[in-house]
Order: sequence, then C-alpha cells, then structure tokens
Amino acid sequence: MESLIQVAYLFASIAFIIAIKLLNSPSTARLGNLIGALGMLGGIVATLFYKSIIRYEWILIGLVLGSLVGAWLALKVKMTAMPQMVALLNGFGGAASALVASAEAAKELLTNTLSFLSAFSLTTIGLSIVIGSVTFTGSLIAFAKLQELISGRPFLLPAHHYQSLLLFLLSLGATAYFSLTKGEIAGMYVLSIASFLLGFWITLPIGGADMPVIVAFLNSLSGLAAAATGFVLNNYLLIIAGTLVGASGLILTQIMSRAMNRSLWNVLFGAVGAEVSSGGSGDRTVRSTTAEDVALMLSYAKEVVIVPGYGMAVAQAQHAVKKLVDALSEKGVETRFAIHPVAGRMPGHMNVLLAEADIPYEKLYEMERINPDFPQVDVALVIGANDVVNPAARKDQNSPLYGMPILDVDKAKTVVVLKRSMNPGFAGVENELFYQPNTYMLFGDARKSLESLTQALKEV
Ligand code: TAP
Repeated sequence: MESLIQVAYLFASIAFIIAIKLLNSPSTARLGNLIGALGMLGGIVATLFYKSIIRYEWILIGLVLGSLVGAWLALKVKMTAMPQMVALLNGFGGAASALVASAEAAKELLTNTLSFLSAFSLTTIGLSIVIGSVTFTGSLIAFAKLQELISGRPFLLPAHHYQSLLLFLLSLGATAYFSLTKGEIAGMYVLSIASFLLGFWITLPIGGADMPVIVAFLNSLSGLAAAATGFVLNNYLLIIAGTLVGASGLILTQIMSRAMNRSLWNVLFGAVGAEVSSGGSGDRTVRSTTAEDVALMLSYAKEVVIVPGYGMAVAQAQHAVKKLVDALSEKGVETRFAIHPVAGRMPGHMNVLLAEADIPYEKLYEMERINPDFPQVDVALVIGANDVVNPAARKDQNSPLYGMPILDVDKAKTVVVLKRSMNPGFAGVENELFYQPNTYMLFGDARKSLESLTQALKEV
C-alpha cells in the first residue's frame, strides 16, 4: 500500500507540473486548472490510505466542511474580490502548515519522544510554524487592506522596521534554540508568538499599490511553509507541491516587482505611499463629454487604443467593450488593447476578462510593445483605469507611484476616460491625466457609458 501511495503521489506531482504549464496561456488555462484539481484529488485520496490513520470521522467532517465552505466561497466571490480570496487562501494554507507542524510536535511531546527527534526534524517543525504563522497573519492584513476593512495606507509604528527585525531574529533564534535543546518547549512558544506578530509587522507598512507584490510573496511563503511541513511529515507530495508553489510565487513576485520598477526589498521596507501626493498642478480644468461626442470622435479615428483597468472589472463591462470593438470595426476603425501588468486587482485580470468576452488575443499588447505607439494613436479610450495611466509615476518624485512604468496614454492625440467620478484609484492619488487639455471625461458606470457609446456610434 505504501508504494501505491507513493506512485499516486508521483502522478499527482506530474499533474501539478502539467497544470502550471497549461496555466501559461488563457486558451489552455481551464484544462490546466482541471488537471491540477484532479492531481490534488488523487493526492488526498491516496493519503486516506495511510495505515497510520485509525479513525476517519474527523477527517470526513473536515473534508465535508472544507469542501462546502470552499465551494460556497468560489461560487459567491466576485471576480473583483479574487485577490482578497487568494490572500485568504494563502493565509489558510500557512495556518494549516503551522497547525500540522504544531500537532506533530504536540504528539511527540505527549508521548515524551520530542527529545528523540533529530535536529533536522525539530528545525523543520520550527520553520514550518514560523513561515506558516507569518503567512497567516500577513495574509489576514493583506485581506483586510484589499477588502478595505482597514486603510490601504502604510501603517508604521516608531522604529517599525527595527521591531520587525527583532521579531524576525527572535523567530529564527527560538527555532535554533528549540532544535539545539532537543525540543525545549519554551523555544516553541517564543517562535510561535514572534512569528505570529511578524506577519502583522511586515504587512502593515505596505501601501495599497504594492499589494499585488505582497500577495504574490505571501503565496510563495505559503508554498514554502507547506514544503517545510512536508519534511516534518516525510511527505513527498507536500514537499513537491509546496516547492512548486514557493518557486512560482517567487517568480510572480519578481514579475510584479519589475512591473512596479521596484525591488522586493523596497516594497517590503520602503513604506511607499505613506504621504499622499496631490498630483500635478497648473491647468485644473476638467473637460466632461457625452457619449455622442465621443462616438463622433471615434468614427473619425484611424486607430483607437483601449486601456482597460479595474473599473472595467467592477462594471463587468467586458462584453460591452466587445460590442464597441465590433461596431468600430464595422466603421473601419482599428482597435488594439494596451494591457498593464498590474491593471485590475490580480495578475492577468484584464486578459481573463477580455478572453471571456471573446476579444482576440492578438489585439492585446503588453505595455513595452504598445508604449512607443501612443504618440500616433488618435484616441486612447481609458476604461476604468487610473493608477496605471497616471503620469505622476514618471514625473512626481513624491508620488507613491513614482518609478512604476505606466501606459503612456497621455501622449496619445486624444484621451477619453470612462469613470464615474474624479475619485482616485487604488493608490489613492490624484491623476494629472484627467486635467490634460487633450483629455475628455465621460462620467458614468463604464458598462452603461459603453452601451450608449456603441448605440451613438451606430447612429453616426
Ligand atoms: P485603479 O487605479 O484602481 O482605478 C480604477 C478606477 O476605476 C477608479 O479610479 C474608479 O473611478 C474606476 N471605476 C470603478 N468602478 C467603476 C465603474 N463601475 N465604472 C467606471 N469606472 C469605475 O485601477 P488600475 O488603473 O487598473 O490600477 C490597478 C491598481 O490596483 C494599481 O495601483 C495596482 O498596483 C493595484 N493592484 C493591482 C493588483 C494586480 S495584481 N493587478 C492587485 C492589487 C492591487 P471612479 O470611482 O471614479 O469610477
């Protein structure tokens, strides 16, 4: 039976690797997800055959309750709330790893065999609790910030980073003590409390705009915690799956940091966004326009570049965008989409929504490819994007967005922005683009504005 379980684990690991590969492209992502889920199911079923399991009641209760909550959440959560959901899932993953490692230690403690464990086993128990706890509490704060339960602004205590450093050293020091003293329980108390607090301390100073980076980082940590727990339990599947999550999360963190033009170090310790920038000064006139005027403008354009952002997701306007693209194509107007890597609230957010509306993938252009073309673009149509088109990122050194590469929409001949008000975006900073002489604001819910726009275009 033991060998069969290991074979099942091998297949599950292969399924995870194939799944990651297939998740690379929107056209194969669904299949990838399915294969990954089947791999996980195989892993769970195989684990249930371990001979060390004596009673199944609690496992079954956990399975049923967990599946019900998971299915309910997955069906209920809105696409726009996906990052919060991912943050919570990371957190629960971390908590599970910490709890399993603690239970393993408690079991040995009750049978008085803790001191017989090797230094390696004791270290993995300690690390599993440390990484898992940091992931748990860090993810809770990320969730609260993204859900706007607490302010997205950085929160810093006096000498905050020194306190974090102290907690970090305490966590590692206590892990070393726990291992060197052959399981002295005081070490476990200290490492648990210090790492629990460390998660809060690390995430509280992180500004809203940096949340994508930190969610990817916590995702990576949740994988490392699972891998450490795999060593505690001697479970190869957990080690492989945890390492895959850890490595892919780290790659994603790197991609996200690069998109913000910041190092992970700067994201973690920069407390960027503590001061609110007022954006630009100068001519503060806002030019409000109507769907009819924009339709006329678009019908005379040779090329229109559409820049989707979080507002498109909130308005669920992707299908209305597709109808506009079709109407424009009937009039002989070319359209392309400019995609910023952190537009929306999760990696690939815009790609997923546009794919859902059957917008051809060839029309989607990454920032580096489309930016040089903006000066020749007749109309840039910004649909619910804000931070990712804020020129302050280029010019204003005091702006929390400073240094983040943006879509150079402001360089287009004419800019039309669809949003409901003059409210700022995620980073909470004003946008000078809205005051530019070549910018027109079409106020209203993006979906309704697009529907009126398409209607008006057909009547031009
Ligand atoms: P944001 O800067 O958040 O701006 C979105 C804009 O959409 C808002 O200004 C809002 O203005 C408008 N809006 C909201 N609902 C709307 C509706 N129903 N109809 C029309 N407009 C609507 O979006 P962005 O430009 O996509 O930038 C993304 C931001 O999120 C970045 O700061 C990024 O760092 C952060 N972030 C990204 C991620 C990932 S991984 N993508 C994860 C977490 C955070 P009104 O209220 O005036 O309508």
